[in-house]
Amino acid sequence: MKIPITRPYFDDAEKTAMVKPLESGWVVQGPNVAEFERLFAEYTGAAHALATSSCTTALHLALATLEVQPGDEVIVPAFTFVATANVVEYQGARPVFVDIELRTFNTTAEQIEARIADRTKAIIPVSLFGLSVDMNPIMRLAKRQGLFVVEDAACAVGARYNGRHAGTLAHLAAFSFHPRKVITTAEGGMVITQDASWAADIAARRSHGGTVSDLERHKKGAFALPEHDVLGYNYRMTDLQGALGVAQMKKLNWIVERRRTLAHRYDEALRGLEGVQTPYVPAGTIHTYQSYVLLISKDARLSRDILAQELLARGISVRQGTHAVHLQGYYRHKYDLRPEDFPNSLYADRHSLTLPLFPTMTDDEQGFVIEQVCALMR
Ligand SMILES: Cc1ncc(COP(=O)(O)O)c(C=O)c1O
Repeated sequence: MKIPITRPYFDDAEKTAMVKPLESGWVVQGPNVAEFERLFAEYTGAAHALATSSCTTALHLALATLEVQPGDEVIVPAFTFVATANVVEYQGARPVFVDIELRTFNTTAEQIEARIADRTKAIIPVSLFGLSVDMNPIMRLAKRQGLFVVEDAACAVGARYNGRHAGTLAHLAAFSFHPRKVITTAEGGMVITQDASWAADIAARRSHGGTVSDLERHKKGAFALPEHDVLGYNYRMTDLQGALGVAQMKKLNWIVERRRTLAHRYDEALRGLEGVQTPYVPAGTIHTYQSYVLLISKDARLSRDILAQELLARGISVRQGTHAVHLQGYYRHKYDLRPEDFPNSLYADRHSLTLPLFPTMTDDEQGFVIEQVCALMR
């Protein structure tokens, strides 16, 4: 049996949806993107949702609109995908790394507070693997210190924190629709915010800084190009992707439920294995298990790397959870960072393991993964 790490869930709804922009000829950001944004805002409870070409560009737009600039520092977890830190570099600012908690793989307000300095302008807490970061203390800290909070909610579509959708407590939040994520538009991202002026600024910056979108100009029949008052980019989502997004939104509740059911079956089967930590879910959160990540400690029968190789040899795709950014060459060299500077991030880099989990995974496929992990680790 060959089991992939993930498999996007598409059916006839996506195929039908993709045909519409092809037939109308409107394939760049247009009516489907607008509908996807409307559905996403409604689903999350955000006042504004702005689709982008990826979560990386969504995060970059969030920092650009907050005018993060050279001389500023932005606090970023050391254990996250490299893009979280890269966007700070795009603005010429300095990412200041902070360690994580091993139980949740997320960072805490106390850890962040210790890294705040005079130049700190913003914090990017990450809701990793589909578990919301503990936002209330972070927002209280940010308010006390006059800092902006941009949540990296790349993995957190469908995740909840005290009844609120992930990302809605932050000033701005960014989501990813890469195929490894909960829903997908191939590449794609979304910024949400409650603030109308940031939303308008981001709408302009994602489209070269133009004050009026192509769709609005088309509707009004305007011949003149819009004004360009801010530095913009081409970070637009195409309407083909927007159509995919609309179709995926209709499946989202089912996808989240299915992911949670599969995760609970893994929990039950793997919880008792010596040296194997299953995902921790704090009270008041709903985890979407965008990635189902184990921590394989030194007490386990096999090391993480040996277990991973054995599973791969049996046709089961596995990955490390994510990487520690401070171990990546660009950051290591530029900021002279050592592995032990962020011990929990280093540990998570070396000991985390993602098991396959996707909504169309069959009971037999999951049963095979469980059987193999148990046989190897018991
Ligand atoms: C935590 C985190 N942030 C940002 C990103 C970047 O997302 P995208 O690939 O949509 O740019 C990812 C993607 O893996 C991620 O996991």
